[in-house]
Formats: sequence, C-alpha cells, structure tokens
Amino acid sequence: MASDEPLVVAHRGASAYAPEHTFAAWDLALEMGADYLEQDLQMTADGELVVLHDSTLDRTARGPAEACRGPVADQSLDALRRCEFGSWFNVAHPEHANPNYDGQPLPRLRDVLERYAGRARFYIETKRPDEAPGMEDALVGLLTEFNLTADSAAPPTVILQSFSAASLLKLRELAPDATLVQLLPGNLAAWAARNRLDEIAEYADGIGPQKDRVDRALVDAAHERGLVVHPYTVNQTPDLTRLIGLGVNGIFTDHPDVARKFVSSR
Ligand code: G3P
Ligand code: CA
Repeated sequence: MASDEPLVVAHRGASAYAPEHTFAAWDLALEMGADYLEQDLQMTADGELVVLHDSTLDRTARGPAEACRGPVADQSLDALRRCEFGSWFNVAHPEHANPNYDGQPLPRLRDVLERYAGRARFYIETKRPDEAPGMEDALVGLLTEFNLTADSAAPPTVILQSFSAASLLKLRELAPDATLVQLLPGNLAAWAARNRLDEIAEYADGIGPQKDRVDRALVDAAHERGLVVHPYTVNQTPDLTRLIGLGVNGIFTDHPDVARKFVSSR
C-alpha cells in the first residue's frame, strides 16, 4: 500500500485547533488537506460504536454527571446524547476557542461515515478491544454497509489500526482485503520493534510506532517485509524532517496544515 508521498493522517481530526473527534475537527482537517481522518472507537453499553479516544468521559464530556462521567461502556447511546464534547477545548485552549465548538455531539462511527464517505479516507482504531467483545464484528458490519471492505483504492479508503494483535487478526478474518496497521507501544525500542516484524508481516500491512522509537534500521526492515511505517504523533518540524528523511510512508499529526505544507513543499 505504499504511496509516493508520505500520507498526512489527522490525529483525532485537526485536534490542535478544534476539539478532538468532533465534526469540527474533521471538517477542519479536510480543509487543511489531510489525507486521512482518524477515529478511535469505543463501544456503548448498548453496543453502538462511538468515536472517542478515552475509555472514560471525564476529560472531554460535559453535561449531566450521571451520563457524562465515568466509563463510556457504562452508558447507553441515548444517555451519551445528553453530553457535549467541545466546550472543554475552549477552556483548555483559549487561543483556539470558537463558540461553534460548544455543544459538539458524540459522533457514532455511522455518523462519521455518513458525513464523509466519498470525500475522505478513514483511519480507524479499535481501542481496548479486549474490553469490548464484538467491536470488530460491529466495525466490519458497518464498513460492509458502506461498501468499504473490498477497498482497491490506492491509497486505501480505509485503514484499520490497533495496538491489539488479536483484534487485527479478527479483522483480517472478517475482512480479508482490509488494510491493517499494527500500532506499537510508546515504550517499545526500535530494536524490539524490529524483532516483531516477521510476525506482524503475517497479518498486517504496516506498523504505527511512536515517533521517537523510529530509526533507519526499523524503517528499512519494515520496508523489506512490505510493511509501511506510519509513526504517531508528529507535531514538530524537526520530527517531520527526520522521519520523512528516514522514508516513513505517513505520519499522524494534530497539525495537518503544517504537515501538508511540509510534505507538499519537498
Ligand atoms: O493511532 C495512532 C495513535 O493515535 C495512537 O495513540 O493514544 O492517540 O490513540 P492514541
Ligand atoms: Ca489513535
């Protein structure tokens, strides 16, 4: 799945400038020229796939405490619809505050696909899938509904990622043609990551290492096995320069505008 130019993945949307995982953040990421919009998945008590990074609501949800605090998995979708996910950003980042961010709803994955299918690419992560049985089935069910499982586009319209190898193996079984990226923990040294590549190449198409764990030997070893390399989360120009110089195939960033300009000006 290698493409000529490094791909710009908007990490939780343009999350440096707008509240993460909201339509405001993804709209802005598209305006800024991102190649992919990222979604982290959680599952509600009634089995709905929603897009939120944290497994708990406390950091980014505001609203009635009984619905908007504690684990997402304890709440129904109806209860979560009483919460909003944007006002925290205006308080935390006054320099980027915008009244439109107040009241941003929790997006279901279905809502995201309905809004952007046909005009965006998606980079979807199964988050803590061991705690959410059925997450992979629900995900593939939804992708099938939107005709996104037999994806022959280059670069692919959908990339699926996880820190969990077990989750990726399930996805490979459910959607044999899906493009899969194995995320690597932030504390995994480059040499240790290299030792995992033979196994990863059996089921995945790429790796997502933490940016500071990437060296030339890791990039070369991944490429030798046909694996692309998409480090996270790259927000500073010196890191962009180093990683793109090493030949990575894409980067996750909170600043898709900066990355787009950098990639396009090379
Ligand atoms: O998916 C790549 C990167 O997003 C992993 O870290 O914690 O931001 O989901 P996290
Ligand atoms: Ca993620």
